[in-house]
Amino acid sequence: MDFSLDFIEIIKKSQKVVILTGAGVSRESGLDTFRDAGGYWSKYNPYELASPQGFRANPLLVWQWYQARKIIASQAEPNPGHNAIAEMENYFPEFYLFTQNVDRLHHRAGSKKVHELHGTIFESHCFDCGLPYPQDFEIGETLATIPRCPECNGYVRPSVVWFGESLPYEALSMAYQKSQSCDLFLTIGTSSEVYPAANLPHQAIYGGAYVMEINPNETSFTRDSNLSIRQKSGEILPEILRIIKEIKVK
Ligand code: OAD
Repeated sequence: MDFSLDFIEIIKKSQKVVILTGAGVSRESGLDTFRDAGGYWSKYNPYELASPQGFRANPLLVWQWYQARKIIASQAEPNPGHNAIAEMENYFPEFYLFTQNVDRLHHRAGSKKVHELHGTIFESHCFDCGLPYPQDFEIGETLATIPRCPECNGYVRPSVVWFGESLPYEALSMAYQKSQSCDLFLTIGTSSEVYPAANLPHQAIYGGAYVMEINPNETSFTRDSNLSIRQKSGEILPEILRIIKEIKVK
């Protein structure tokens, strides 16, 4: 792809960079997205699998789904998109990565500081009292295989953010603050349908940043972006990294 002079100029000037990622960045690692054709929410009901009400109604079903996703994520490998993002942080004085993904692939690609806005499937805590539950366990075919909290006997749940729940305060307030004050904001592989994360690129625009979207498909944010690159993140991010390296090394 030929990058415009504008874009090259923006990269040259940018000191503070914020990246927001969604499920699309892990698509080329073989993980399903949520809202694409064939994505999770075309097959399953999000309120059954990803809400406190759903967990209360059927904790075993919810756990079996998250356990299956955990296995798939553990067996997947970071793709060139994750790797390029991990390397990019070396080229800017300030660089912040916020992700809606729970799969830990950014960590495994070597990103040093990943702010997980929707938690992670690799940690668990008590549904009732919130106590972390660090032990390993395997969910089987019965309710009795779901661990209970040693403090209050509540069911242990995955440490992900479900519909109707608040995002982790620290990560979210930092995301707002950094989005409002950055020079360059990249929104990558997200449909921009889920708030408050979908608000972040708008905050960046209000703050005067150049906002670039990377997504093979148009989203509800596309028209507001300064540049929309309709390509897969695993293909275009290594090219963007190459440009950054050329410019920033000189
Ligand atoms: P979505 O499934 O809503 O959107 C994924 C986006 O990735 C779509 O816009 C695709 O066009 C794009 N995409 C697909 N392949 C891609 C590729 N190779 N490179 C780049 N982009 C690609 O996923 P999210 O926006 O992450 O929350 O969804 C946000 C939240 O909604 C998730 O964290 C999850 C979900 O419900 C909860 O479970 C609470």
